[in-house]
Amino acid sequence: MAINHPSFGVMDPDRVIVFDTTLRDGEQSPGFSMNLEEKLRMAEALAELGADVLEAGFPIASPGDFESVQSIARRFAKDGPVVCGLARTSPGDIQKAAEAIKDAARGRIHTFVSTSPLHMRVKLRMEPEAVLEMVTASVTMARNATADVEWSAEDGTRTEIDFLCRCVEAAIKAGATTINIPDTVGYAVPEDMFRIFNTVRERVPGADRVIFSTHNHNDLGLAVANTIAAIRAGARQVECTINGIGERAGNASLEEIAMALRTRHDAIPVTNGVKTPNILRTSRLLATITGFDVQPNKAIVGRNAFAHESGIHQDGMLKDSSTYEIMTPESVGWTKSSLVLGKHSGRAAFKDKLKALGYEVGDNAMNDAFKRFKDLADRKKVVYDEDIVALVDDEVVRA
Ligand code: KIV
Ligand code: ZN
Repeated sequence: MAINHPSFGVMDPDRVIVFDTTLRDGEQSPGFSMNLEEKLRMAEALAELGADVLEAGFPIASPGDFESVQSIARRFAKDGPVVCGLARTSPGDIQKAAEAIKDAARGRIHTFVSTSPLHMRVKLRMEPEAVLEMVTASVTMARNATADVEWSAEDGTRTEIDFLCRCVEAAIKAGATTINIPDTVGYAVPEDMFRIFNTVRERVPGADRVIFSTHNHNDLGLAVANTIAAIRAGARQVECTINGIGERAGNASLEEIAMALRTRHDAIPVTNGVKTPNILRTSRLLATITGFDVQPNKAIVGRNAFAHESGIHQDGMLKDSSTYEIMTPESVGWTKSSLVLGKHSGRAAFKDKLKALGYEVGDNAMNDAFKRFKDLADRKKVVYDEDIVALVDDEVVRA
């Protein structure tokens, strides 16, 4: 049965909603906070990237957070992504979130409460039955403010399954239109994810009327794998951040999910609205705003993601790039792959580089230059174009 969602209308069962939380969960990582102007710039870029929902902040958290969510909601007052504000279960939180999102063309309140035995006992100091009542009360209140309500079971993957099903049932009965089961502490493995989503979707009455969402933290480096597993078990919303920023080890990375879905559509046959050629510029904008660069080997957006140094790989790349690349650099916004010259590089890449630099080299000069290049590469981590020029200048004849 197709789902009729208040913000998205009748849903294609294969369409995955991309819920970006860079501005909320992402911003919660130490040192990553953004001011209003920076949040607005990021929101603009995320909308251009094709994110369906922007979780713009946690309005009760501070006046600044409230103002950011409200400004983003006003920016998307006519069209654009759904603008979402986070709220705990208390009426004050929900009221603030409702006020902050009210000017958006499509606004969402995202309310959550912990459901795991550990969190209920230690953090909330509440009995499960009282938590269940809070689920109903908070979702009902949010639903009176807006038609688009998401409910999350915080620490959902460490929640006892029968209780999780009861909470989800209560949230759906109270009017939630999206149900999120977060892996709050990045504890689950893909098999857990698959089982939890399948069980809840099968057991809970009304589950076929709502969108199931997956929200994964990366403490074990499994956030994207868990996201894919949840999609395979029927989740149709993915919560993620640019560059994978977020609490502790971060959240599932938007760019990795988008490219996994695109590259392995054969294995995960779902669609989404991400305009992948915008990925790199969005990633760079976030890095510029926050002052945190991504690690060089980061999938998709790290500076080595499409760089090749070993001679064997470079030779393969010069023959056919599909030998060592599973997606094109252009498909995510890079202009081209790079063959980086270093001590592992071979003759083919060296010769190619000389040609690109405008040098035509005879066999003898080539042998000599290549030997000198290898000596230099043993001393330097990366050999730059200027080094090559200096190295071969007295050995070659300009083309
Ligand atoms: O990780 C988490 O559980 C959260 C919730 C607020 C959805 O960020
Ligand atoms: Zn989170």
